[in-house]
Amino acid sequence: MQVYKQRTHNCGELREVHVGQKIILNGWVESQRDLGGVIFIFIRDLFGKTQLVFNESTSEEVMNLAKKLRQEFVISISGDVILRTTANINKDIQTGTIDILVTSLIILNESKTPPFSISGSEELNEELRLRYRYLDLRRPSLQKNILLRNKVYSAVRNYFSENGFIEIETPILTKSTPEGARDYLVPSRVQPGKFYALPQSPQIYKQLSMIAGFDKYIQIAKCFRDEDLRADRQPEFTQIDVEVSFPTEEIIQNYTEKMIQRIYKEVKGIEIKTPFARIPYKIAIEKYGSDKPDTRYGLEINNYTELAKNSGFELFEKAISSNEVILGIVILNGSKFSRKQVDELTEKSKENGAKGLVFLKVTENGLEGSAVKFFTDVFKDKIIKESGAKVGDAISIIADSTDTAFTILGNIRIHLANILKLIPENVNSLVWITDFPLFEYSKEDKRYYSAHHPFTAPNLEDEKLLDKDPGKVRARAYDLILNGNEIGGGSIRIHNSELQSKIFSLLGLKKEEAETKFGFLLEALQYGAPPHGGIAFGFDRIIMLLTGSISIRDVIAFPKTRSATALMEDAPSNVTEEQLRELHLRSR
Ligand code: AMO
Repeated sequence: MQVYKQRTHNCGELREVHVGQKIILNGWVESQRDLGGVIFIFIRDLFGKTQLVFNESTSEEVMNLAKKLRQEFVISISGDVILRTTANINKDIQTGTIDILVTSLIILNESKTPPFSISGSEELNEELRLRYRYLDLRRPSLQKNILLRNKVYSAVRNYFSENGFIEIETPILTKSTPEGARDYLVPSRVQPGKFYALPQSPQIYKQLSMIAGFDKYIQIAKCFRDEDLRADRQPEFTQIDVEVSFPTEEIIQNYTEKMIQRIYKEVKGIEIKTPFARIPYKIAIEKYGSDKPDTRYGLEINNYTELAKNSGFELFEKAISSNEVILGIVILNGSKFSRKQVDELTEKSKENGAKGLVFLKVTENGLEGSAVKFFTDVFKDKIIKESGAKVGDAISIIADSTDTAFTILGNIRIHLANILKLIPENVNSLVWITDFPLFEYSKEDKRYYSAHHPFTAPNLEDEKLLDKDPGKVRARAYDLILNGNEIGGGSIRIHNSELQSKIFSLLGLKKEEAETKFGFLLEALQYGAPPHGGIAFGFDRIIMLLTGSISIRDVIAFPKTRSATALMEDAPSNVTEEQLRELHLRSR
């Protein structure tokens, strides 16, 4: 073990004012240039990099050591801060006005040649990065993300603490609380044949904390969901989990808006305006074809179903008579679309499940397009008027069953915004989506599922519909959407045991089943449960958006791949026969 002195400064700290000082730096060798007689080394740490100089004034012993240095060697140096000549000033780095003339050098550790450059900006293979994650994390771009994440932790913790929220840790080994995904299970050694589940979220525990009287709860919590992974999903992710007693939707939304404001202010120095817009679910679908609409641009969906009843066009009329809808989007200046662009748009629609796409150009002479010859004159006039399309614009139209048609056009809307470059930069559009349906009906399973989770309270006005028409009942649920990404979701909860049992039964849970799975909650609700509600945010997703990362993996220190594996430590992995036997398990 080499003896070395504590650093006097970090590698990003020295400036002109330090010229003449004797300093000590510790760090990694980023690069070395041996010009024969003079050696330049960049020494790097978390805070930046500084150029070291070894020249004719350097002792032979130090010079010989310097010649041995390679990328990622860990070194400790002492030296004098010297001013660079004007010609040699490097404006790209913070320490670019000075150099260190090294007087002593200790090599604290050598490094094998890294599989990729730590300082390079070239695109790297992600598998290789994940295999050597500790080196990947040494790269400044990833370090920046993790540091920003750390700032957000502090901002969030401080904010909630100042507002009287209490941090309560909930268990990781739990009983499963269904949130729509598959559970990760942990076999019990002492209870043969029984399993714990890792929490998909601390949902029930935070409700129990309110029943226990803790008034306001916060936890930055790990959640585990065995679901299909995408760019914004991980099997193990972090939530900012919040619950409040005696709330209204507004109370929770206000706390949330202030938290978001605080994060942006502290981390990015940006003022976010409140209150955020509120859009009921139904309107979001009708206008944007999505319950997480990107509201940074228009391209709203129009419904031409009424209009198209007497269009003269058989395809539309037939569709309408079989209960389908006719929807369209006006494309500003869309008449300029080439044949190829129209074909691409049609292709995109088909990829999204459309049967076809009618593309109409609005020209000086009226509508143009292959379907126009079938249209009545009245329809031609009306569609131009009602859509608001001007000469030079185009209208893209599809016919399909309601849900499918809105989803398809929602996706086409995003596609158009991208290809037409309609998405403004540096705009943060935050909207609440409210009044979600309480249930979603699955035609396949012929039963209702909770649109959020089964603890969500029904809208008070709609409670009477629970027996008659459950599909029409709105939930007291709300999602927060940032630029088309769902960053959080929550609800006012059911605090009445009978109502909770009723919801379970509407979800097809038999009485005994509800008792086995949720007996403890149903019981707790009978011991003076206060009205309560809350929300949870996807912490990783928020960091992803704040850092402009494309993948959620770039903001998590040790993430899993899309196939839920950890490439560095090789998890999941096989275990010994003995371990299995202890857990009363046999692999098959
Ligand atoms: P929900 O399931 O909507 O609500 O989750 C809340 C937020 O967590 C984020 N999120 C994810 N992030 C990364 N990887 C995943 N696999 C993943 N799944 C979800 C999303 C989402 O908006 N208990 C309720 C909250 C409540 O009602 O209070 C819940 O977990 O950003």
